[in-house]
Amino acid sequence: MSLNTVAINQRMTQFDDHAEVWLFGYGSLIYKADFPFLARRPASITGWTRRFWQGSHDHRGTPDAPGRVATLVAEPGAVCHGMAYLVTPEEFAHLDYREKNGYLRVATCIAFDAGGSAEGLVYIAADDNAAFLGAAPDRVIAAQIAGASGPSGPNRDYLQALAQALRDMGKPDDHVFAIERQLARLG
Ligand code: SIN
Repeated sequence: MSLNTVAINQRMTQFDDHAEVWLFGYGSLIYKADFPFLARRPASITGWTRRFWQGSHDHRGTPDAPGRVATLVAEPGAVCHGMAYLVTPEEFAHLDYREKNGYLRVATCIAFDAGGSAEGLVYIAADDNAAFLGAAPDRVIAAQIAGASGPSGPNRDYLQALAQALRDMGKPDDHVFAIERQLARLG
């Protein structure tokens, strides 16, 4: 699969005839909403778990020194907490560009914390994309994050902003918090 997923995502037309689409965010989309939205609601999706297994060459690292950012890995019964945004379909041009380093739009059922659910989209970087890095011990992931920086800033800021956002939402994540602890040890 090519490194740039913009063209593939543009062919994902499932929601194009909808006036509004729910987008589920679980990584930087939780704490950095750089797009207009009509509503925002804490939400979750089932069957996926958050992992810092995706390489970042364009935001939090470089092609020579990629950072590590969040993707979702299938895990039966797992619940991933995040933030859902109601957007107009026009916003996907910007979102596809932002998520171009391996992420594909996937249709999913989004359950709102306050009750109810909706069919929507989530960006997932699967293990067959060229930037996928996969599993590593927490301390190895933390060391890579500590040493990486890209056009969107230090990789450390991504991890810490996500950890803080999850704390603020009251949705602890063992994987994210374990990497945060390792990062703190590195100073
Ligand atoms: C997301 O936040 O939902 C996707 C991954 C990212 O942009 O960090």
